[in-house]
Amino acid sequence: MVLLDGKKTSNDIKDEIKVAVTAMKERGEKVPHLAAVLVGSDGASLTYVGSKVRACEYVGFDSTLVELPDTTAEEELLNTIKGLNENEDIDGFIVQLPLPKHIDEQKVLMAVNPNKDVDGFHPENFGKMALDMESFIPATPFGILQLLERYQVETKGKHTVVIGRSHIVGRPMSILMSQKGPAGNSTVTLTHSHTKNLSEITKQADIIIVALGVPEFLKADMVKEGVVIIDVGISRVPDASKKRGYAIKGDVAFAEVSEKASFITPVPGGVGPMTIAMLLKNTLLARERNA
Ligand code: GUN
Repeated sequence: MVLLDGKKTSNDIKDEIKVAVTAMKERGEKVPHLAAVLVGSDGASLTYVGSKVRACEYVGFDSTLVELPDTTAEEELLNTIKGLNENEDIDGFIVQLPLPKHIDEQKVLMAVNPNKDVDGFHPENFGKMALDMESFIPATPFGILQLLERYQVETKGKHTVVIGRSHIVGRPMSILMSQKGPAGNSTVTLTHSHTKNLSEITKQADIIIVALGVPEFLKADMVKEGVVIIDVGISRVPDASKKRGYAIKGDVAFAEVSEKASFITPVPGGVGPMTIAMLLKNTLLARERNA
């Protein structure tokens, strides 16, 4: 079994970005500038956004964190986005999800200038991605492709089963794995809450990508020997033995599934750090495209 080490791979990618930024500075060019908008004080979102800002510092990007209270009106958030769209110093920005219930997520994502949409969530970018056009690929799917590519996991002609049809992971992943090119050319089955006999399908999978948010959902008796496992889940499960009071669990019962897997991502240290590295990569691309 080979561990798909997202921590190491993301560090490699961040170091490559750092080299590119240093070269930009030496040429007297402006360095990439990423902004993140955080509405409210969701614990996990605070952690993620904090990691994104620290990663910017590491690679030499400028970063701006816009923190807005839970009570922010939709109109106010749309105005903030308009300001970021118009601010020429900002190359790319993200609005951290989830948003408070009173705000229409779709309306917010539609308001982001597609050329600055480094999350790749705007329909223009999603449509371009699906049509093999130059776009911003959402960071988590982009990170998964990079892991598969850098570990030379064969995907061509393989049966990939994606569990979960979210707009951020499952749906784009199902499209990307079937596309021509590196980490593509796979035969994809996209499964979800209405899928019948899920185990029968997962047992036929060469590659399984699980993005459900249900801790330890995928068990050893649901997979075949030699399967490749990509675990996108990051759930906080109460655990009194931990100082912070919770443990981080993926969607895969790692101990038992890893015994049958040929490649597997750990949680933490798998897909999570890759997401941040690819957000930086998209921001670098945005800077280069804007130059
Ligand atoms: N919430 C969970 N994942 C993501 C992500 O990749 N981007 C944003 N903006 N919010 C998220």
